[in-house]
Amino acid sequence: MLKNKKKYLNFALLFEIMKTKLIKTIGVLTSGGDAPGMNAAIRAVVRTGLSFGLEVYGVYRGYNGLIENDMIKMESKSVGNIIQRGGTILKTARSKEFMTKEGRQSAYENLKARGIEGLVIIGGDGSFKGANIFSSEFNIPCIGIPGTIDKDMAGTDFTIGFDTAINTAVSAIDKIRDTADAHNRLFIVEVMGRDAGYIALYSGIATGAENILIPENKTNISRLIQDLSNKEKRQKAVNLIVVAEGDEYGGANNVAETLRASMLTTEIKVCILGHIQRGGSPSCLDRIIASRMGFHAVECLIFGFSNLMVGIVNNEMCFTPFEKAVKETQTISRDWFKLIKRLTR
Ligand code: F6P
Repeated sequence: MLKNKKKYLNFALLFEIMKTKLIKTIGVLTSGGDAPGMNAAIRAVVRTGLSFGLEVYGVYRGYNGLIENDMIKMESKSVGNIIQRGGTILKTARSKEFMTKEGRQSAYENLKARGIEGLVIIGGDGSFKGANIFSSEFNIPCIGIPGTIDKDMAGTDFTIGFDTAINTAVSAIDKIRDTADAHNRLFIVEVMGRDAGYIALYSGIATGAENILIPENKTNISRLIQDLSNKEKRQKAVNLIVVAEGDEYGGANNVAETLRASMLTTEIKVCILGHIQRGGSPSCLDRIIASRMGFHAVECLIFGFSNLMVGIVNNEMCFTPFEKAVKETQTISRDWFKLIKRLTR
């Protein structure tokens, strides 16, 4: 991890570097699943770039826009009135063509024709894997900004969109809990998180869920049934279980089916929150981290760095090579499970 490497470079030096015009034109794109706060990151990249005298191109539909030459020159006003908006003004895609050498070759030729010498990629691990290959093949510096609601990347405490997504989930689950309580029903709520359980973990703890099932922890269904029936015997109201979609037991429907077979007296309902978690106005935290990361991503390109993901660890900027960021995930320590067990007694 190249933590704080940039600390030694100050603004005076930055302007010296700028005078030599190392890089004049950059592009920015959003790739993979959209996440609230991506627009704030685009705004930060565009305005930082312009303020340093760079030309900035916005690339539409992720890597597809590079391949199909679908790009637009951005002005300061192109990113006005977007910081509060969910989604991404540049649109996004998971590009299959960029996985091919031919696709990346076309992308490179389109960049070269426009004089674009560096890229800022806002996306998740799949997007950074693509950037890593592209940059080593064609020597185009790429800097990544982690934009995914899943928070499934090493090298940063937060990814853009996670905070908004958990707040959306919490507000939805609170509502479900009201009706669950009124009817004495057990709701199995499924939240997003294909490979990572952070949305389930945070939203489950914040809503007082009885159990939280996540991919990082093997689900012991018989222990879960035992736990629920012990609580039933004690007449403890059990209204809520939160399941991450990527839990190895197979999501809310599978869990509900198994529980129904053993808990004959409890009425069990399923609610899958789905894509509602991806949309909406970004939270203050997401806007702030997106702004900080966007600014530092452009600085990285100006300083001549490449293949790094910009992150924030302990509230400080942190720079992690793509290879490490995509290979590793944030581990969930056992402490979290001890906490859940104690608080749901
Ligand atoms: O990667 C973010 C994410 O929201 C996952 O949690 C989810 O599994 C996936 O995207 C859904 O992707 P799509 O919008 O393509 O269905």
